[in-house]
Amino acid sequence: MISQNTIQQILSRIDIIEIVGSFIKLKKRGTNYLGLCPFHNEKSPSFTVSPSKEIYKCFGCGRSGNSISFLMEHEKYSYVEALRWLANKYNVEIEEKELSPEQKLQQQSADSLYIINNFAQKFFSDYLFNTEEGRDIGLSYLKHRGFREEIIQKFQLGFNPEARDGFATAAIAAQYNLELLQKSGLVVVRDDKPMDNYRGRIIFPIHNQSGKVLGFGARVLKTTDKAPKYINTPENDIYVKSKLLYGSYFARLAIDRADECLLVEGYTDVVSLHQAGIENVVASGGTSLTPDQLRLIKKYTNNLTIIYDGDGAGIKAALRGLDLALEESLNVRLVLIPDKEDPDSYVNKVGAAAFNEFIANNKKDFILFQLETSLKEVGTDTTKKSALVNRVAETISKINKAEDFTKQDDYIKQCAQLLKIDESGLHTLVNKFIREKITKEENRQNRDEIFSNNDQQSGTYTPEDDDAAALLNKDEQHERAIVRSLIEFGTRDWDEEKKVADYFFEHIPIDELDEFIENKNLIPAIRTYHTWYKEGLEPNAKSFLYHEDMELSSLVVGLMDYNYEISPNWKEVFDGKIFTRDELYKEEVFSTLNYLKLKKTKRMIETNQQDLEKPHTAEEQLILLQTHQYLKNIEIELTKQLGTVIFK
Ligand code: GTP
Ligand code: MN
Repeated sequence: MISQNTIQQILSRIDIIEIVGSFIKLKKRGTNYLGLCPFHNEKSPSFTVSPSKEIYKCFGCGRSGNSISFLMEHEKYSYVEALRWLANKYNVEIEEKELSPEQKLQQQSADSLYIINNFAQKFFSDYLFNTEEGRDIGLSYLKHRGFREEIIQKFQLGFNPEARDGFATAAIAAQYNLELLQKSGLVVVRDDKPMDNYRGRIIFPIHNQSGKVLGFGARVLKTTDKAPKYINTPENDIYVKSKLLYGSYFARLAIDRADECLLVEGYTDVVSLHQAGIENVVASGGTSLTPDQLRLIKKYTNNLTIIYDGDGAGIKAALRGLDLALEESLNVRLVLIPDKEDPDSYVNKVGAAAFNEFIANNKKDFILFQLETSLKEVGTDTTKKSALVNRVAETISKINKAEDFTKQDDYIKQCAQLLKIDESGLHTLVNKFIREKITKEENRQNRDEIFSNNDQQSGTYTPEDDDAAALLNKDEQHERAIVRSLIEFGTRDWDEEKKVADYFFEHIPIDELDEFIENKNLIPAIRTYHTWYKEGLEPNAKSFLYHEDMELSSLVVGLMDYNYEISPNWKEVFDGKIFTRDELYKEEVFSTLNYLKLKKTKRMIETNQQDLEKPHTAEEQLILLQTHQYLKNIEIELTKQLGTVIFK
């Protein structure tokens, strides 16, 4: 792992103009630079790079990001690969970080699994080509199915011998640890003896994005056996089924070039299509797509075409979860292969040209496809039909990004026609679903209002509560404000002895974050800050801007954009002089921290009160009442001290 120190060094040298400029020609235009967008086709330049903000944005296609995301997108690098590229460019020596014992174990286990898989892949391929059994049984099977040698080699297919422990013996002789061999799924222990898990099977190695072997799919030769057709690697440190797509390593450049990703069910479909020269194809293994897999596809393209056999159960599975694809603005199309064929058998039957033509002519939009099939099922049943109308409206409501509004309108038009209903009626229904979704989100944010009302009902109402209650509605903003001030001012002096961050963590201990911060999304930002700070770094917003975790990075960018200022009360204290946030940072930290403490106190008062309502001995009762009084005093004190931060 690259140390944070190295990362900070790299980040401090980043020059976005130089980096982007090494791939595309940029011209200065005012304070910004302009060039032809590398992510879409254009004749006049709309790709803008801002050296001061350290970001780029294309006003043609809307893509935007920072230096690292540029490298990740343009060069298809992983985050770490991008950092290594930058380190090389700016001559920063990479210092590898000392891992914690746990991390070390996990890293070692992951590394060992990669090493074992690499050994196994070579063993199986070697066995396929260079032994009599491999050639007579494995290779002849593959050739019989129409796979040529070069494609077998490209996909590194192999064969696991029939013998009980052909592979296990070789692996143990090569000093591989039995426990790890079991974890890799290659070896199982039966009757106290190691045994090959994939005996007599054709092996399909499954690669990650950069070509390392994560695991295997192993196919029986004769499907008449009772044994399952495929056995796959069990989930382990590196093989996480929901995060991988078979063939993505071989497909990534082709997907980028074609700006389209074809999705099929099986390993053999991927290999056959490649052999036919159709390389922008990956397989999901016949299950429904997961959010991680969708994200993987979205890294390369917005156009997903699902190609499944027409009568399979697979298609139903594939369609599940696709609402998510809509929210991610993926364009999903569907092609069904006719006559009980699958893509593998079909391309072998009709050839590449006819296959491509068939795909091009039979692509159906997935929403419309779903609607057409459901309409057939519904028939003339009016109850079922109105349920269907609702479902369609809900699906369409998921397309809710500004850039997709025309797409949404198109769908409404086409679906209304298919459903034979009034277009404006469907429009209203779609809007209803959008509103419901928004209301749900708002309710979540306003949970604390209920809490403050409770307080008034319980008869302990004080005038201060009014202000506090009003403030409680602003919980969300306050929590964001405190995280923002930590990131922005954390490394400034609090007093002679400590920094703002020290003061912060004294009052909000890192193990008690959950008790103070309601919005759990904010917690990783505080934790990350804490880790960096404890390592002696001086974290700031920029450290987050380039964080590997894009969610965290955009969260912090969002926080920094946040618009608010210190209340006029504070300004009055300082004699009407107008101070900037920058000058009043201590007050801001003090006030927002107090607010969190007040909230926690209120929660404790409530718990105590609930406790009071239960039966108690006189002694217990007294303690609880004293606690109540004590907490109440703290509450009043905090409320008095509470400077207010207003939000715009
Ligand atoms: P061939 O029959 O050799 O053409 O393979 P295929 O890939 O066409 O198989 P099929 O269409 O039956 O299944 C599609 C995909 O589903 C496979 O590639 C596997 O990923 C998965 N699959 C099929 N059968 C099994 C099974 O028995 N177990 C598991 N775990 N996965 C399976
Ligand atoms: Mn098949």
